[in-house]
Amino acid sequence: MNLGGKKVILTGATGGIGQEVAQALVAKGTWVLLVGRNQVSLSILEKSLKSEGYGSDRGVFSVSADVSVESQRQHIVEFAHGAMGGVDILINLAGAMSFTEFSEESLETTEQLFQSNVIAPMQLSRLLLPEMVEQGSGNIVNVGSIFGSIAFAWFTTYSSTKYALRGFSEALRRELVDTGVEVTYIAPRAVSTPFNSERMMEMCLATDTEMDSPQEVARQLISALEHGKKERYLGFPEKLFVRINNLFPRLVDMALKGQNQIAKRYLK
Ligand SMILES: NC(=O)c1ccc[n+]([C@@H]2O[C@H](COP(=O)([O-])OP(=O)(O)OC[C@H]3O[C@@H](n4cnc5c(N)ncnc54)[C@H](OP(=O)(O)O)[C@@H]3O)[C@@H](O)[C@H]2O)c1
Repeated sequence: MNLGGKKVILTGATGGIGQEVAQALVAKGTWVLLVGRNQVSLSILEKSLKSEGYGSDRGVFSVSADVSVESQRQHIVEFAHGAMGGVDILINLAGAMSFTEFSEESLETTEQLFQSNVIAPMQLSRLLLPEMVEQGSGNIVNVGSIFGSIAFAWFTTYSSTKYALRGFSEALRRELVDTGVEVTYIAPRAVSTPFNSERMMEMCLATDTEMDSPQEVARQLISALEHGKKERYLGFPEKLFVRINNLFPRLVDMALKGQNQIAKRYLK
């Protein structure tokens, strides 16, 4: 797909990965609607993209909205139509994290993660699908995680949401076959962004977890879109572990036992 001139909604635009994706998209000549909750961060990003001379001024827009609230999702879609006259690509990147013992997680946190990581991408897709199907083209990009294929202790809710997002992506792709609308699922491994708290960063160091830069994730996401990839998993040996976990999950239970105990020390 040639991204030039495409109209994109990018949620999570002000985050570590989002800023890099936004910059890469605008450099490709797309029109982008940046979405996040913090208006100041959005304005700074919008201004910097325009001042760096990426694309034309009329191609970068921003709207402050909480994707976990249905009325605000509707506002995002209406805003996109008003500003850009349509939507070709939805990138569901906004997400929330919880690193805790599941028995100590509040119901509110569990619900919030499912709202942000699962319901929001599903419902934004639902709002945009009729026009995409009618125009016979479009792409929904869901940013999951390696945790959507290998569930990790202390990330029980987060892993569950990313499994759900992967399932949604696969089912929707099959449902949309022959409509011209594509679904792309991206599964990064750990990425050095503020998404990971200081404790999580320390835990990654202690468990020798490899981390990618947000620039690398953005590069892979854009390349997957341009090459019409249905899925892209980042990092080796993570890709291999995903396959082993599918085939021999009890083996992975054993392999992760030691790492889980190290990780547990960083919970509090
Ligand atoms: N970093 C990693 O290690 C890693 C690894 C694998 C997958 N991922 C996935 O990559 C995505 C982005 O991660 P990141 O590292 O870029 O995170 P980040 O730096 O923490 O950024 C998160 C972004 O999402 C926005 N956001 C969060 N909740 C929102 C809500 N309810 N409504 C609207 N916007 C919301 C934040 O802006 P506001 O706070 O202003 O709303 C921010 O723009 C997530 O889906 C995450 O699961 C990350």
